[in-house]
Amino acid sequence: MQPLQSSSATGAARSIADPRERLIVALDVPDARAASLLVDRLDDTCAWFKVGLELFVGAGPAVLEPILRRGYSVFLDLKLHDIPNTVAGAVRSAAGLGAKMLTVHAGGGPAMLSAAQEALTGVANPPQLLAVTVLTSMDEMQLKAAGVQRSPAEQVELLARMGLDCGISGFVCSPQEVGALRAITGPAGTLVIPGIRPAGDAVGDQKRIATPADALRRGASYLVVGRPITQAADPAKAAESILTEMASVL
Ligand code: C5P
Repeated sequence: MQPLQSSSATGAARSIADPRERLIVALDVPDARAASLLVDRLDDTCAWFKVGLELFVGAGPAVLEPILRRGYSVFLDLKLHDIPNTVAGAVRSAAGLGAKMLTVHAGGGPAMLSAAQEALTGVANPPQLLAVTVLTSMDEMQLKAAGVQRSPAEQVELLARMGLDCGISGFVCSPQEVGALRAITGPAGTLVIPGIRPAGDAVGDQKRIATPADALRRGASYLVVGRPITQAADPAKAAESILTEMASVL
């Protein structure tokens, strides 16, 4: 891939004008070979890849190495959620893998979030911790079934305020809450937004969605896109079309 303007995983991303620095492609594939093929097909198009549970569990932590060696930034989306001591240990284990961002579930509560953040104290080049608020696949009905009476927007705000109190300034939420969260975090917040669907694309299991341009206009720092790129007949062409749409509003 071509060297890009350097970026840190901070709210400064909002002022990065190169859309490639703000598009994260989700490598939701089962093994290292499939990941490598996808990275090959997207070479020179993208700067960030997300390694999530499917790939990490299937291929192990070593799957990050070749992606990092090729100069890409990695978002490690492990969505950690356990007792504080266990999550702190997992954060320490993940911290040395070279990812720039790492997720924990905000629903783990303040003690867990504080323990996760404290686990990075003294770590050289730590990943930025992002707290996942309400999954983009959850709507009001799904939340109610899980015992949450608030609307997704209210629950996202509650969890984000809790995360901020624990020293976390990065959040994952849907495009529908990004404007409200941006108002809470200000420009320093890192808002990473999945649930992105170009107009006319299949929605799949996602519920709270928006187009790439809309999500950026509402205040997203980074967009996470999986299937609209990875399952396209020509992934590079699909990514380029999303990048063009992003560039139109940056
Ligand atoms: O294929 P699609 O674009 O729906 O993929 C979205 C990616 O973002 C998936 O890898 C999913 O795990 C992730 N994600 C999400 N909702 C969240 C957090 C992460 O969809 N709240």
